[in-house]
Amino acid sequence: MSSFVETAAGIAREAGALIAGSLERHIGFERKGEFDLVTEADRSSERLIVESLRGHFPEHSIVAEEGGGYDGASEYRWYVDPLDGTTNFAHGFPMFSVTLGLERAGQLIAGVVFDPLRNEMFTAESGSGAYLNNRRIHVTNTDNIKDCLMATGFPSRKRSQDVNVHFFYQLAMLSHGVRRAGSAAMDLSYVACGRLDVFWEFGLNPWDMAAGILLIREAGGACSNMRGGAPDLRGPHILADNSAVHQTVLDLFAEVFAGHYRYPIPGLPR
Ligand code: IPD
Ligand code: CA
Ligand code: CA
Repeated sequence: MSSFVETAAGIAREAGALIAGSLERHIGFERKGEFDLVTEADRSSERLIVESLRGHFPEHSIVAEEGGGYDGASEYRWYVDPLDGTTNFAHGFPMFSVTLGLERAGQLIAGVVFDPLRNEMFTAESGSGAYLNNRRIHVTNTDNIKDCLMATGFPSRKRSQDVNVHFFYQLAMLSHGVRRAGSAAMDLSYVACGRLDVFWEFGLNPWDMAAGILLIREAGGACSNMRGGAPDLRGPHILADNSAVHQTVLDLFAEVFAGHYRYPIPGLPR
């Protein structure tokens, strides 16, 4: 394990313990937008992570969700989500994580996703594979959409402009189902370790995806945007899967983008 991954994993473990401790104390939330929540746990986790990263790597830049970042002179940049799944956390729904991804000159080189409730540490570094609690992980080889378990998410912001319900419905009709667990970093980690076959979402931020994209790549999966172009941390949408069904999912998405729905949503009973 490189010192970057090892250090990031240590920091994520500490931040995860802090968050899990606050869950037991039932701390309240504030609103960043109408449905976008933030808690004291998000802020204190971010303070801990940013201070630790600055202590270990004083020159590195840090982009952190709650604004505690740092603009350094080096070619290294960390993306930090101090609590991915804040809405779940605020309700005591046990699906949330801490995630840190590292870019060097624009290339993802290291990433960790830590689930403090299950004590699961997902780690990846470029060229060295993906791991769950130090054991190598791989995506599934399921090649039929009908046998796939999928996941997606719906952003808290700009809900009224969200088009994902169309994709959700078509893919749910064709597969074993589409989960919506509420932590994109965990969704990506679950594709990497084979618990899910496909994940997509609109409107994610770089801190949600940086570590997860590297995990998928290092676990043998495929990542692109939902139209098949290169995945972009700042991009409008992402598709990450086991690679065996990538083209089939892109073809299905193309139909939905074109407004062709194989399964029209049934009308409500009178
Ligand atoms: C959210 C989670 C969720 C996704 C949202 C994200 P947050 O992150 O990843 O799964 O659907 O789009 O904003 O706000 O809990 O860090
Ligand atoms: Ca997030
Ligand atoms: Ca967050």
